[in-house]
Amino acid sequence: MSLLKREAENILLNNRREGYTLPTNNKLYPAQWNWDSAYIALGYSYFNKEYAIVELEKLFEGQWSDGMVPHILFHHKDENYFPNHNTWQCGEKIPSSGITQPPIVSSILKLMLDKHEFSSSEMERILNLVKKTKNYLEWFYKYRDPNDTGLVSILHPWESGTDNSPLWDFPLSKILIEENLEYKRRDLDVSSSDVRPLKRDYDCYITLLNQFRNEKYNPEKLYDISMFNVADIGFNSLFLKACKDLVYIATKNNIECTFIQKKITQTENKLISLYNKGDNSFYSYDVLNKQTLEIPSITNYFILFADIQNKEINNSIIQSLKMYNSNEKYFFSSIKPDNKYFEEIRYWRGPVWINCNWILYKGLLEKDPELANKIKSHTLDLMHEKDFHEYYSCKSGTPYGANNFSWSAALYLDLIND
Ligand code: GLC
Repeated sequence: MSLLKREAENILLNNRREGYTLPTNNKLYPAQWNWDSAYIALGYSYFNKEYAIVELEKLFEGQWSDGMVPHILFHHKDENYFPNHNTWQCGEKIPSSGITQPPIVSSILKLMLDKHEFSSSEMERILNLVKKTKNYLEWFYKYRDPNDTGLVSILHPWESGTDNSPLWDFPLSKILIEENLEYKRRDLDVSSSDVRPLKRDYDCYITLLNQFRNEKYNPEKLYDISMFNVADIGFNSLFLKACKDLVYIATKNNIECTFIQKKITQTENKLISLYNKGDNSFYSYDVLNKQTLEIPSITNYFILFADIQNKEINNSIIQSLKMYNSNEKYFFSSIKPDNKYFEEIRYWRGPVWINCNWILYKGLLEKDPELANKIKSHTLDLMHEKDFHEYYSCKSGTPYGANNFSWSAALYLDLIND
């Protein structure tokens, strides 16, 4: 155990650049990613609190003045990645992408505060991050739910963190791909095409990006003009939990956050209204095309992480989770294995991801400790057996994607310390 712990720490240290940490040490992701950094900070907090705080400070250096924290920060103008800063052409203090990612940072801050003692100067820096997180979460309500429904929208599949999930197939099928689109993917130079998103997916990603760039990423406009607008269950669950965790920290530390506090009940009720009693599931909603997305994705179960105050629903979702991939040796596959969209090794269309297991584990700790601990030991065993990879087959456990993957190592450190 302790050897692997050392290995996990070394992965983070080796992937660390000036104050921030790359998702992996290969050329696949040569920049700072938003939710990766949050997981990474939690990992550091177990052996280097300074690095944990600096990681998040670096992330917030890239925050836009409207409150958004971009999904990628290009601290170095590395051109080996596509789309890089030249394509995005945005960012304020730091060149960045013009979209965001799940704002799990306040949940990570809460976990760090629950777990560790911090000096008063460290606390001051953390509370500074909390205030910035508050602006970030308010940004979602303002610009991603302008009609005040309670649910926030993602406007690009990359915002979900689960880039090419079958969840997005229908909304993407409605996109008019830009004519004469020209670009060169770089992910296929370092990864096999069998595991990566398809060309048609990339065409859509870049069409959307170009559309946003043409609008200068004006948040007042993007919600209405985007050809992709989805109220995703996974994203909204992480968002709701982020709001709850922010309010918890803010209240304890006399930071005003009445706006978010008031919105929480509305978001929770709206999420609950998406529960489908018939097949005991939550499904995302395509806002633009007015269509429910009935895809059995593991992210639909992130509702457990959101801690909704409804025992009956929580219990039936737990029962459904137990059946989700009960026939496979390794869990949880990103898409239900018996579903027609399931692909064993293609990125977010089937493989097991450590962060998904971790989110479910955290969400179950108080609701079903037995299942939570089963997930924890199973996830640790997977990493003992197969090391710290980006994702794994649910059938054979074979690792795929990048090795030395930072968030797998970071969440390993959290799991063994829990
Ligand atoms: C991919 C993943 C995303 C992650 C990024 C860096 O784009 O889909 O969730 O943040 O890689 O690891």
